[in-house]
Amino acid sequence: MSTEESTIARSELRWTAVVFAAIGVVFVAIVSATLVFHEQPPSHRETIDPTTMHLAGEFAEGNLGTSLGPDGGVTTRIVATQFAFVPQCAVVPQGKPVTFRFASPDVIHGILITGTNVNTMVVPGYVSEVHTVFAESGDYLMPCHEFCGLGHGEMMAHIRVVPPAQFNPDKNGKVGCGPR
Ligand code: CUA
Repeated sequence: MSTEESTIARSELRWTAVVFAAIGVVFVAIVSATLVFHEQPPSHRETIDPTTMHLAGEFAEGNLGTSLGPDGGVTTRIVATQFAFVPQCAVVPQGKPVTFRFASPDVIHGILITGTNVNTMVVPGYVSEVHTVFAESGDYLMPCHEFCGLGHGEMMAHIRVVPPAQFNPDKNGKVGCGPR
């Protein structure tokens, strides 16, 4: 190898090392986000008929919002539709595991709850399920983060996190935001 060739080879090896170092940093970031912050792609696959979901079943109007199950689990069901969430506000307890279930009857929407690990697409035909625990009480903004049409920028809801003592389901296990 001539001197020039070995210089080029050393330079290429250096850049190879830089590339592997960058891949390593990204890999560590993904693994630590998964393990430490519980941020990961949904592992859940569940289908629903978007043309009939409003007629019966868990996404019929009367079943939307937060409910306390017989097993004590808190589940919040929200429909994402052009250009609103139904309901616009949902109450959940602070410091307890909450399961969110979303479905869309029309186009792809996306949801995130600011300051939490809740972030998912809502694709027609599928139920998106996300689990979280809210450490702090307060009102959290939940905007749509997937462009879904002209009203996309207006599409948002609130999640109201209340201390467990203020989380009072009615006799049907339902909890609503009530008049504001
Ligand atoms: Cu729904 Cu953007």
